[in-house]
Amino acid sequence: MESPSLLALALILWFCCYGALSCPVRCTCHFGTQSTETVCPDAALSHYPSNGLPGNTTSLNIQFTNLSSISAQELGATPLLQELHLPGNSLSSLPGDLLTGNQLRELPARVFYHAPLLNLVLKDNRITSVDADWLPFNSNLTWLDLSGNNLKKIPSALLERLSRLETLHLSQNFLETVPAESLHSLRALERLHLEENKLQSLDAKAFSHNSNLTVLFLQKNKLQTLPATVFHRLHRLQYLDLSENQLTFLTPGTLSLGISLVDLTFNPWHCDAKIEYLWKRLNDTPVQSVLRCASPKTLKDKAVADLTPEELGLPE
Ligand SMILES: *[C@@H]1O[C@H](CO)[C@@H](O)[C@H](O)[C@H]1NC(C)=O
Ligand SMILES: *[C@@H]1O[C@H](CO)[C@@H](O)[C@H](O)[C@H]1NC(C)=O
Ligand SMILES: *[C@@H]1O[C@H](CO)[C@@H](O)[C@H](O)[C@H]1NC(C)=O
Ligand SMILES: *[C@@H]1O[C@H](CO)[C@@H](O)[C@H](O)[C@H]1NC(C)=O
Repeated sequence: MESPSLLALALILWFCCYGALSCPVRCTCHFGTQSTETVCPDAALSHYPSNGLPGNTTSLNIQFTNLSSISAQELGATPLLQELHLPGNSLSSLPGDLLTGNQLRELPARVFYHAPLLNLVLKDNRITSVDADWLPFNSNLTWLDLSGNNLKKIPSALLERLSRLETLHLSQNFLETVPAESLHSLRALERLHLEENKLQSLDAKAFSHNSNLTVLFLQKNKLQTLPATVFHRLHRLQYLDLSENQLTFLTPGTLSLGISLVDLTFNPWHCDAKIEYLWKRLNDTPVQSVLRCASPKTLKDKAVADLTPEELGLPE
């Protein structure tokens, strides 16, 4: 009678060498009829899982691992890759990249050229700059997540190639402004996440070409004023989050479009004649949360909508 360990060895050999479905160590692979998904969530993983990686992988997820390098060549082994998720890794020593540091700061040019990517998730790394050449001009990417990195500028040169992008996550970076034209190629964009940056200003034309936007997240920034026309081209906008900024008033006309939901809470509203536009707007279309005056002292914590014309210093 054969010993169980010999049987196990025979089975392993059979699996490895006689055409059973392969899958890298420390990863799990899901073989569907339309897709092959490989997930590698093991903290001990320290090399790109080339060995055993199914050549027809369409979705690869390497998360919270000890991965220290990745190259265009390695990605080239999976020419059908559509989704690449690399959140929370500690990538370093990338080819063509002599930067020191132990987390992902830069990726080599053309790194994603060999895959027809649709979704790319690079959140929670240490990326400081984005190369326009990461993706080809005819990229079909619809979802890009660069949140939780160290970007100081909108990566316009890369975005120019992404005319099919529908969702863009740039939240939790160090962006200070949204210049005119920086998002102008994103005509298919529907969801834009810019929350938790250092935005102090938006150009009046920041979103003038993104007429398909339906949700726009700008909360937890440092916006003090908004150009009156900044949202005017956004005819499909359904949700706008401006909470937790430094707004003291709204320029007349700022919200003169059919946005159904606007969050304006946790801004330091200054209740004098300049707030008339917001006051009128709140009385026309009540918003969900009550907005309160932060100043002057005499009106502190009073609901903006309940102010009287006298309190605002408006002529009767
Ligand atoms: C991927 O390759 C495996 C093994 O060769 C095969 O069983 C599976 O059907 C393939 N999947 C697709 C979507 O082509
Ligand atoms: C990660 O890699 C470093 C050096 O490559 C090693 O010292 C460390 O033990 C690894 N961590 C894990 C969890 O394997
Ligand atoms: C994008 O899709 C089109 C067809 O839908 C295809 O011809 C083109 O090669 C794709 N681009 C890339 C980079 O895969
Ligand atoms: C905008 O959205 C509509 C409806 O979802 C879609 O038909 C259209 O193609 C989109 N425009 C662009 C430029 O993608």
